[in-house]
Amino acid sequence: MTAKKIILDCDPGMDDSMAIIMACKSPALKVMAVTTVNGNYPAEVTSVNARKILELLGREDIPAAQGMAAPMVRPAPRDPFTHGADGQAENFLPAPSLPLCGRHAVDLMIDLINENPGEIHLVMTGPMTNLAVALQKAPEIREKIAGITAISGAFGLNRYAFANATGDTPQSEWNVYVDPEAAQIVYQSGIPMTALGLDVATHFDINLSGEQIRALEESTNREAAFLRQAIRFVNQKGFEAYCAVIDCLAVGYVIDPTLVETFAGRVGIETKGELTLGNTVLDARHHHVWEQLPVVEIGRSVDYARFLRLLLELVLA
Ligand code: BDR
Ligand code: CA
Repeated sequence: MTAKKIILDCDPGMDDSMAIIMACKSPALKVMAVTTVNGNYPAEVTSVNARKILELLGREDIPAAQGMAAPMVRPAPRDPFTHGADGQAENFLPAPSLPLCGRHAVDLMIDLINENPGEIHLVMTGPMTNLAVALQKAPEIREKIAGITAISGAFGLNRYAFANATGDTPQSEWNVYVDPEAAQIVYQSGIPMTALGLDVATHFDINLSGEQIRALEESTNREAAFLRQAIRFVNQKGFEAYCAVIDCLAVGYVIDPTLVETFAGRVGIETKGELTLGNTVLDARHHHVWEQLPVVEIGRSVDYARFLRLLLELVLA
């Protein structure tokens, strides 16, 4: 089986860091680049954190490119959640010696997509600013992207969708909330896209079991220690373990699409409301549906036991 080519566009972030680990260690994927964006932290911090992880993994061969420093039309908002003093659950990894690749993330994305038409899957675990800007700068890439899998939105499918809302409005998801205009461009782009919302990505069945946490403790590898510390960090803040691995679900889905059941739904992005800024509004009405809204695939349910087995297998490998 040939490995799927992916670009991992992210804002590490403890769970983005875990997504990088999972992607880089999976033989099913070929990580063409890790691109970073303003999101959980400013782009300078997220790009340092991405390189810390690539170094931890000994994957200095993968280019790391820094991207957009701010959302498209609004200032970077306050994050109600914190990923710690270092943005990596206070793992305090050594400062990276791996340099940035020298290209802006947007340009690197455009080049890689043009050089590999129809082959690149975008795995997006941060705000969608880089891709939205890339689509404006080089509209021809739209036809050449194999697909997008994003941790994006909250669709009201179950109680986790809004109870675990990560944006700073009652029902929004952080990645959309930070840059709703960018999300709107990407959702409307027509590129085949799967949105894994908080409904599935923060479901409590993603919490690792005691046995799985013990396996991390018994391991001598540094990725396992990183995840163990991240779980300790979120637990100390009163959160469940899922917070440390939210973004991993996008990587899991790209490795094995049978892990997630999806359905096609029409979704609009709220860019104006005060209470609803960043909401991903699913038009699931039987009648009078807004036909102008784009259709995306939306995660409905996950085989969590199998997903966690895959995650642990890759982390412990
Ligand atoms: C998203 O918010 C961020 O804090 C996480 O990294 C994840 O990508 C979930 O809403
Ligand atoms: Ca993220």
